[in-house]
Amino acid sequence: PKITYVAHDGVETVVDVAQDDTVMRGAVLNGIKGIVAQCGGGASCGTCHVYVDPENTKPLSQMHQVEDELLYFTACERKENSRLSCQIPVTEEQDGLIVHMPEKQL
Ligand code: FES
Repeated sequence: PKITYVAHDGVETVVDVAQDDTVMRGAVLNGIKGIVAQCGGGASCGTCHVYVDPENTKPLSQMHQVEDELLYFTACERKENSRLSCQIPVTEEQDGLIVHMPEKQL
């Protein structure tokens, strides 16, 4: 599935992410700057924060409480469309998903 990562400066990178990887891993494995992922996907660092594209119509995983709480402690402000990218698994259903990366993660 193809995921588009939009950097804070507007530069878009499209990556083919393996099924069952997460949006976070797709970024890290492809050297995309803008996602730090210090905890490696454990939902404990908050440095994989993304803003899901406001026009998104793809189904996304439900937000669990741990993610919800951590999103109040990210470096950039939480918005309605904020998610932790390590908590978004990628399947064919997410093909074409666009995520925007915040200005900073730390
Ligand atoms: Fe640490 Fe997502 S990688 S919370």
